[in-house]
Amino acid sequence: MKKVNFYQTRLQGEIHVPGDKSISHRAVMLGSIANGTTTVEHFLPGEDCLSTISCFEKMGVEIQRNGEQVTVWGNGFKGLVEPKEILDVGNSGTTTRLLLGILAGIPFHSCMIGDSSIAKRPMKRVTNPLRDMGAKIDGREDGQFTPLSIRGGNLKGITYQSPVASAQVKSSILLAGLNGNRSTTVTEPHQSRDHTERMLQAFGVSIEVKGTSVTVKGGQELTSTSIYVPGDISSAAFFLVAGAIVPDSEIVLKNVGINPTRTGIIDVLQQMGATIRIENEREENFEPFADLYIQTSELHGIEVGGELIPRLIDEIPIIALLATQAEGTTIIKDASELKVKETNRIDTVVNELTKLGAKIEATDDGMIIYGKSKLHGAEVSSHGDHRIGMMLAIASFVSEGELQIEDTEAIAVSYPSFFEHIESLSK
Ligand code: S3P
Repeated sequence: MKKVNFYQTRLQGEIHVPGDKSISHRAVMLGSIANGTTTVEHFLPGEDCLSTISCFEKMGVEIQRNGEQVTVWGNGFKGLVEPKEILDVGNSGTTTRLLLGILAGIPFHSCMIGDSSIAKRPMKRVTNPLRDMGAKIDGREDGQFTPLSIRGGNLKGITYQSPVASAQVKSSILLAGLNGNRSTTVTEPHQSRDHTERMLQAFGVSIEVKGTSVTVKGGQELTSTSIYVPGDISSAAFFLVAGAIVPDSEIVLKNVGINPTRTGIIDVLQQMGATIRIENEREENFEPFADLYIQTSELHGIEVGGELIPRLIDEIPIIALLATQAEGTTIIKDASELKVKETNRIDTVVNELTKLGAKIEATDDGMIIYGKSKLHGAEVSSHGDHRIGMMLAIASFVSEGELQIEDTEAIAVSYPSFFEHIESLSK
């Protein structure tokens, strides 16, 4: 239980948010299946990415980490050895689903387990197409849930139309496709984040992108490289929102990834009327990044849905808080994927914000928020979900009285230095 009371504290100054979670996972994974030594700068030392490192170490890959610097000595797919221990993915959906794609192509047996949240998350969205490619996968409820076991090898390429816009599904199939006997194509209903596609190219793999379809030819080898991981826009989002809603605030977030498949939060802030600037745009290993400037703004409610949803899916908890401080109604729709995140984020966001006095209703595929609300302190919980924990801590800046937040430890999954950054910006 953490007690916080940030009411009437302003936020001013500059921070470097930690490395992007999606890119950090992929750097270790692709480094582990590449030939040669890959170095990773500004790696996110969050629990999820550490789970990825530990899984590859159990398959014989030598990985050295020194804070935010990681070196991976890869020996190609053939360098992975059958693990003697169960691969523990912790709380990480990305580790589970992308690793399944890699393991699908390798002729050995392995078992995978995660925490109680992972045990509830649907896996058939990847185990079904990977089975179609030829992988032998078993698991609870016929491969829908962990624990899972997999014996890979002898994959055929497939053409797959994914029913969901999910980077984890797309990436899993593309990684399996690298070991297919022909090309593999994945098409999704809307474009999801494309970090796998960009990073595969940085590792020398050729891919073809047409609209929302991506094709990879089987039999390609990866060549090691150096990866710089930009700051995570999903972590920056908590301070972008705080900067916009906390009176007298002005924040600069340095070196934040602005890959267009991730910048839905910037679009939402702009549409709601926030003053936000993107400065010093640069690019490394196919990923753009920039400094983001935000200041306290008058906001109004908007509608968020359609193809914007995959571009801000992880930001919806903090967007809900943002909407409580905007004049008028905000409608979030087409977001039923929220139900299968670390928690059912429609329920956890609505329940926890209601305890603080927000006027918010759950719908079948999102939520409706009626602003602007005065919030107040209460006993709330992250429910073990890092992004719910961070949203509640930011809510304290606009809530009169103390918040007692249960299970803030979960925040270490993606942002171990979160409370230090709050402290350094608080004036
Ligand atoms: C991720 C993809 C998204 C996102 C998750 C990270 C990734 O999940 O919510 O936090 O790294 O590929 P889905 O692919 O399930 O939408």
